[in-house]
Amino acid sequence: FNPADFARTLLGWYQQQGRDLPWRNIRDPYRIWVSEIMLQQTTVATVLGRYDLFLQQFPALADLATAPVEQVIDAWAGLGYYSRARNLHATAGRIQTDYGGIFPADPDVLQQLPGIGRSTAGAIVAIAYDRPAPILDANVRRVLCRLFALQQPPRSAAAEKQLWTWAELLTPEQEVHDYTQAMMDLGAMICLPTKPQCKDCPVPSFCLAYKQGLQQDIPLKTKK
Ligand code: ADE
Repeated sequence: FNPADFARTLLGWYQQQGRDLPWRNIRDPYRIWVSEIMLQQTTVATVLGRYDLFLQQFPALADLATAPVEQVIDAWAGLGYYSRARNLHATAGRIQTDYGGIFPADPDVLQQLPGIGRSTAGAIVAIAYDRPAPILDANVRRVLCRLFALQQPPRSAAAEKQLWTWAELLTPEQEVHDYTQAMMDLGAMICLPTKPQCKDCPVPSFCLAYKQGLQQDIPLKTKK
C-alpha cells in the first residue's frame, strides 16, 4: 500500500467528482469550524439550508463570541443537538480571550475546546490550514475498515487505535484540504454503509475488502 499513490488517485477523482459545497475552497478557520460542528450530527442536505443564514447572522468569530447565548441557540433552529450551539458560543469566547481571536492550528490545542473532539480538530487543521492532520469521522472510519479489511468490531478500543494509525499513515503532506474532503466524499458517495458502489470507486485496487469480496461484510456489524 503506497499512501502517496493512494492520495494521488483519490485527489484525481475528487477533482472530477467531488461535491461542490459552500465550506469548500475556503480557508477561514471560523467558517470551517462552524461547518464541521454543524456536520457532526446533521446531514449535508440540512446543513446546506442553514449554513449561510447562520454566517449572515454571525459573520465572524467576534460576532458569535459577543452575542447572547440565546441568540446562538435560536440561530441553531433546525439543526438539532442544541448543546452544540452552547459549545460553539463557549468556544468562540475562549478563542477570543485565550488565543487573541486566532484559531489554534494544533489539533491537540483545538481538542481542549468545547465541542471539538479529535476528528473535528483534525478536520479544522487539515481543511482550514491545509496542514497534515488525520480525521476519523463515520465516513472515513468505514472507508478505512474496508481499505484494510479490518476484522474487528470498528468501535472496539483496539480497532480505534488501529484506525487512527491508518488515518495518520494515509494523510499526505500536501493538498490536505482536498484530501480530507475527498475521503469524506468517498465515504458519502461511493463507500456507502450497505451498498458500496465499488464499480464507481476510484481506489478499488487499494481496497483489501474489495479484493476479498468482503465489502458487504466489513465493517463488521456490532450485535445489538
Ligand atoms: N462531514 C463533515 N465534514 C464535512 C465536509 N467538510 N464536507 C462534507 N461532509 C462533511
